Amino acid sequence: MSGLTAIKACKEENLDVVCYEKSGEFGGLWRYHENSDDRFPSIMKSTMSNTSKEMSAFSDFPPPSEFPTYLHHSTVLKYLEMYAENFDLLGSITYYQEVVEIIPSEDYGTTGKWLVKVRNTRSDESREEIFDGLMVCNGHLGYHYTPTYPNLDLYTGKSLHSSRYKTNLGMEEQRVLIIGAGNSGVDIAAELANVSKKVYLSSRRGVWIYPRLFDKSKPMDVSLHRRYNVTVLPSSYMEKKLEKSLNKKMDHKKFGIKPYHPVTSQTPTVNDEIQYKLLTGAVTAKKDVKEFSQNGVLFDGEEEITPIDVVIFATGFYIKFPFLTDDILRVGKNNKVLLYKNMFPPQLKHHTLAVIGLVQPNGSVFPVAELQSRCFVAVMTNKCRLPSTEKMLASVRATEGFRARNYVQSPRHSIDTPWIPYMDDIAEMFGVKPNLAAMAVKDPKLFRICFFGPCLPYQYRLTGPHKWEGARDAILNYKNRLYEHLKNGREK
Ligand SMILES: Cc1cc2nc3c(=O)[nH]c(=O)nc-3n(C[C@H](O)[C@H](O)[C@H](O)COP(=O)(O)OP(=O)(O)OC[C@H]3O[C@@H](n4cnc5c(N)ncnc54)[C@H](O)[C@@H]3O)c2cc1C
Ligand SMILES: NC(=O)c1ccc[n+]([C@@H]2O[C@H](COP(=O)([O-])OP(=O)(O)OC[C@H]3O[C@@H](n4cnc5c(N)ncnc54)[C@H](OP(=O)(O)O)[C@@H]3O)[C@@H](O)[C@H]2O)c1
Repeated sequence: MSGLTAIKACKEENLDVVCYEKSGEFGGLWRYHENSDDRFPSIMKSTMSNTSKEMSAFSDFPPPSEFPTYLHHSTVLKYLEMYAENFDLLGSITYYQEVVEIIPSEDYGTTGKWLVKVRNTRSDESREEIFDGLMVCNGHLGYHYTPTYPNLDLYTGKSLHSSRYKTNLGMEEQRVLIIGAGNSGVDIAAELANVSKKVYLSSRRGVWIYPRLFDKSKPMDVSLHRRYNVTVLPSSYMEKKLEKSLNKKMDHKKFGIKPYHPVTSQTPTVNDEIQYKLLTGAVTAKKDVKEFSQNGVLFDGEEEITPIDVVIFATGFYIKFPFLTDDILRVGKNNKVLLYKNMFPPQLKHHTLAVIGLVQPNGSVFPVAELQSRCFVAVMTNKCRLPSTEKMLASVRATEGFRARNYVQSPRHSIDTPWIPYMDDIAEMFGVKPNLAAMAVKDPKLFRICFFGPCLPYQYRLTGPHKWEGARDAILNYKNRLYEHLKNGREK
């Protein structure tokens, strides 16, 4: 997905662009395959997007109205394909080309160019090429992380990481333990509850569960991600209101999953089924695993071993850039990556390299990757100037401070970012942040949605470079597209 937005942004500015893709197909992890591994990660067979279609749109390409409100992964892939075809992006991709090394070119000091070593994954032949600029779009959910536990080596049951879980086949009548209550853990628990003998969902600090279907039948992100909510209402008020809403759907305390931290301190876990699975006892929420035994685990605060046939580690991922040296981009302990605006290594002499999609917002990554790509191209074409290294380092420190204050300390939160403020920040850098004050005067109808309504990605095509004439209409008519697929004539 990030690679497609990168190509699109280059083409908009008539830059020559080539995208190296190590697999034989576009789509990244949205392309389902049965045997995922760290080289080619993919979603599970039943994955549904957890961000709604309108809030996950590319800014000049609204998803068709006949698409459902939340998309099955195959429809997400279809959307990517439609986007790529519409903007003629696929011709810029060269398949079976793995980037294995990136180093500064000999004349980097004066030109900022990069030497890229690429390996053909079919012939194993390597070659080198020089580029003026690089967008690194390799994804960050490829290298699975599995924690260690006392006596894990004694355990004789089956175990796997969530990234290897594809379907519930083979899990029938099994006692399954899932460790980790992020989106993977909770999706898998809800699915296995239909077939397994018993499912335990263990989390070390509890979890807030967001439903896709929020108040007044609105998608959760349409309901929550509004400028008014994040710029006018105090965050403490929003936090309390949100916790109240989530507890109304499922009393987190009663259901044994209430965390001690506030709702906004954790990456959102979105699921609509888990409350029923907990209610029926098909899934039981547990605290952290204290230790393993030969045939099960001992949970924190318990005295007896719980027998387990299969353990699924839904414990997240390492961030890695195997083709970059530490002096270009170093990933520190706990997934720490020090990048200016989550994109630019601040210490580099030239800002001709950026990472796209290395961000965990509380909304969709799609419009974020798109804005990042447009921003990088603006930097490359001298339409946006980055501040001095000192200022960038100060900004990186400030972001780190924000994360330390606002998120639970966990490697999974090393790239977490609030969605609207981050997008506005990037958009402002290259002049596509909408001017709401002017809009309030000139176009109050549009202003009402842009300020009080959902922060639709089309807002970033209203003004500035490569604005899109259809953006206003796309915003005003979003409701028609959101629910069109549900219409059958009875609603009249
Ligand atoms: C199960 C699941 C569900 C998700 N649901 C949502 C959702 O609903 N909404 C949302 O916004 N986000 C969701 N996400 C987040 C998701 O990461 C992003 O939506 C998006 O897929 C990231 O795209 P990407 O292009 O950055 O990375 P990827 O999709 O991982 O693509 C990276 C590409 O780079 C290629 N590559 C990697 N290394 C090299 C190399 N060295 N040389 C050449 N090519 C290379 C890979 O083959 C791959 O094609 C979900 C993630 C998962 C795992
Ligand atoms: N339907 C969907 O759209 C969908 C489905 C799956 C995944 N995704 C996306 O894919 C990305 C990855 O999600 P993910 O759930 O695989 O990973 P994740 O968000 O990193 O969650 C990892 C989980 O494992 C726990 N964990 C990590 N280390 C642990 C340890 N040592 N002991 C106990 N627990 C530990 C974490 O708890 P702490 O919080 O305590 O660290 C967290 O609950 C996210 O962007 C997510 O939104 C989306």
